[in-house]
Amino acid sequence: MGPSVTKISSVPLESNHIAVSTDADTRLADQFLELERENAAMRQSLAVVSHELRTPLTSIVAFCDLLLRNRDDRLGSREMDQLKSVSRNASVLTEIIKDLGEIVAFGRQKDVSIVKTSIDAADLIDETAKSMRPILESAGQTLIVQSPIPGSVIQADRSRIHQALGNLLTNASKFSSPSSQIDLAAEVDDSRFYVQIVDRGIGIPSEELSKVFDNFYRAENGSGAVVPGLGLGLFVTREIIHAHGGNISIKSSPGRGTTVSFAIPRECEDTISAA
Ligand SMILES: Nc1ncnc2c1ncn2[C@@H]1O[C@H](COP(=O)(O)OP(=O)(O)OP(=O)(O)O)[C@@H](O)[C@H]1O
Ligand SMILES: [Mg+2]
Repeated sequence: MGPSVTKISSVPLESNHIAVSTDADTRLADQFLELERENAAMRQSLAVVSHELRTPLTSIVAFCDLLLRNRDDRLGSREMDQLKSVSRNASVLTEIIKDLGEIVAFGRQKDVSIVKTSIDAADLIDETAKSMRPILESAGQTLIVQSPIPGSVIQADRSRIHQALGNLLTNASKFSSPSSQIDLAAEVDDSRFYVQIVDRGIGIPSEELSKVFDNFYRAENGSGAVVPGLGLGLFVTREIIHAHGGNISIKSSPGRGTTVSFAIPRECEDTISAA
């Protein structure tokens, strides 16, 4: 499942465009076909795995949420801590399975599909920050949020941007030490919606920075530490931002932290429709 195989797969196979003039060309074309077949089989397996895991995990997450409400106060602080850990790990697994599903979809469609509606950017940021609370709280981390002015309307795919922000904030959390601070700042100006996420975590070695958006790529920093993940989050996030006509960049300083910024066109309309 190396990155080179998946990269080749993203090139559409049009055998009539392959000019077979020498033995070497024939061998190359055969190898290409073989890779394409292996890749299709891999995508099929991913689709099955991701589908089969989704239902039981949804149930685990739902029951954890229910128990964490601790309605009749039967659970002590130790049980609550253990339950939070189950819940946190189930959420991590859910994200991984979502990402696997995305890879299958990208393989089929080549592009991520988005449905834009008019949304309030401040709402979107607040909703995302709220949904990150369990993960951040269990790590004792603080999220400082700077939201756009309420009523700043943008045209975007709400759940996709939510997903992108979730991927970036999850990275900021899991590659930072407990109790550290993470900043999420968002702004809307006349032409664009701009987001910056700053962490004070382990950072990324400069020689690996250009590769972290590749699918299945994990830098040395992540594999050394026990940080779960497949190396898909940034790939999926970049696809989402590009599908919105935007751009994303990453800056990092090993041992000091990482900053990820993205901007998408605002394409403002006056009214907010139901998202
Ligand atoms: N905020 C960050 N701080 C330090 N390293 C990071 C950060 N964000 C990403 N990285 C590095 O880039 C790699 C790729 O990130 P990506 O989000 O694609 O994968 P992942 O988090 O390892 O797994 P997944 O997102 O699929 O759960 C990570 O494995 C890590 O090495
Ligand atoms: Mg990630």
